[in-house]
Amino acid sequence: MTFDTPMAGMSFLDPAIQRCPYELYKKLRSEAPVYWAEEMKCFIVSSYALSRKVLGDPQVYSNLNALTRVANEEVADRIAAIRASGYPQVPFLATNDPPTHTGYRKLATGLFHARRIQSMKGNVESIIRGLFEPFIAKGGGEVMHEVAMPLPILVIADLLGIPRDNVLKYREWSDAFVDPLNGLISAEREVECAEQMLEYQRYFAAIVEERRRFPTDDLISEMIVAEVPGEARTMDMPELLSCIQQFLVAGGETTTFTLGNGLLMMAQQPALIRELRQSDAKLESFVEELLRLRSPSQGLYRIVLQDTELAGVAIPKGSVVSVRIAAANRDETVFEDSEQLNLGRSTAKPHLAFGSGIHFCMGAPLARMELFAAFRRFVHAAERIEVDEPSGGFDYVPSVFFLALKHLHLKVHLKS
Ligand code: HEM
Repeated sequence: MTFDTPMAGMSFLDPAIQRCPYELYKKLRSEAPVYWAEEMKCFIVSSYALSRKVLGDPQVYSNLNALTRVANEEVADRIAAIRASGYPQVPFLATNDPPTHTGYRKLATGLFHARRIQSMKGNVESIIRGLFEPFIAKGGGEVMHEVAMPLPILVIADLLGIPRDNVLKYREWSDAFVDPLNGLISAEREVECAEQMLEYQRYFAAIVEERRRFPTDDLISEMIVAEVPGEARTMDMPELLSCIQQFLVAGGETTTFTLGNGLLMMAQQPALIRELRQSDAKLESFVEELLRLRSPSQGLYRIVLQDTELAGVAIPKGSVVSVRIAAANRDETVFEDSEQLNLGRSTAKPHLAFGSGIHFCMGAPLARMELFAAFRRFVHAAERIEVDEPSGGFDYVPSVFFLALKHLHLKVHLKS
């Protein structure tokens, strides 16, 4: 069954729904698990089983250019002209399909292997210390900009071997890639994002050229010499730029949002910090439950390659499908007491916050390491935290794609 109007007056464009979409998700799962959202011009898939089905069928549900569509038709020509003046954006990993996805994925797995991630542990912990200690010592502040944003970007910057002092620029370029996905971008901002992507390309093309001449032991130097599986060649500049971009973007934004979502949850549930301090197992479980309950990417886009049908709903070729992994993660037929945080929950049925299928997040082990280490440091230093309302409280970025805090002012009460 599909509906042509927002359900019972609820709309994804409503900021209140974006902040708390869970009642809508529940209604969708039970009444219309495949739902035509007129206001977003896409089909919404909300149950766990159907979400896995879509994510597991790249032949029908494609990632190709699903993230690089232009949102504001009236500026499509201007954006095309801006893009044409830079390097072509090569469909890579998250924006690509088999068969080329398969080769790139193999290449990226060879670069971003478990040993490399494990070897980053000491550096991740030192970055966390460097950011959290002053924040906690001064009794708190605005945690998104002071801690949650720089943390994963510094980790990625060190991995790529790029200067740390340009963190704000990396974040700006990362935003320029994801803002067009939030479903609410203005035409003017969309053009600005396209221009910033050119700036990104110029900056990284210069670094690539530099590393070609003087290789180091960083990830960019390794990307340059890595062979594209089965093709007996290395990546050209557009491929390298797309590869770097995906690590920078995918590794930054989602981890930042999850850090913010977790700290807000601790502030809203005061007994949690004490409980998490009891054991590392509880902390590990908290990270998974947090990702399940407050998934930073609320939905993943797919383009339908052929006329198809899902749960009795006809989906024409060319349609856009938004797989609401955040809704699937609260599916009561899969997760008992699905709306509740349960630190003893079995992980037999995995949540979908890192996706599922061939595009499953390549950075999941790194993200888990960062989140665990950051929350661990926090709960062992702070007795209690609260949202600092007089300083501005908290607010979300308007987005139909992410659950992302724009700012979160916290008061930290130290352990005596
Ligand atoms: C809490 C943090 C993170 C979350 C929730 C997350 C979530 C996701 C999701 C849902 C996908 C699948 C996209 C799709 O199916 O269309 C994905 C893909 C990906 N992620 Fe992550 N991610 C996180 C952190 C990271 C980190 C730290 C890195 C690397 C440094 C990373 C690298 C990637 C890459 C390269 C892909 C594309 C894989 C492919 O298409 O084959 N992610 N991520």
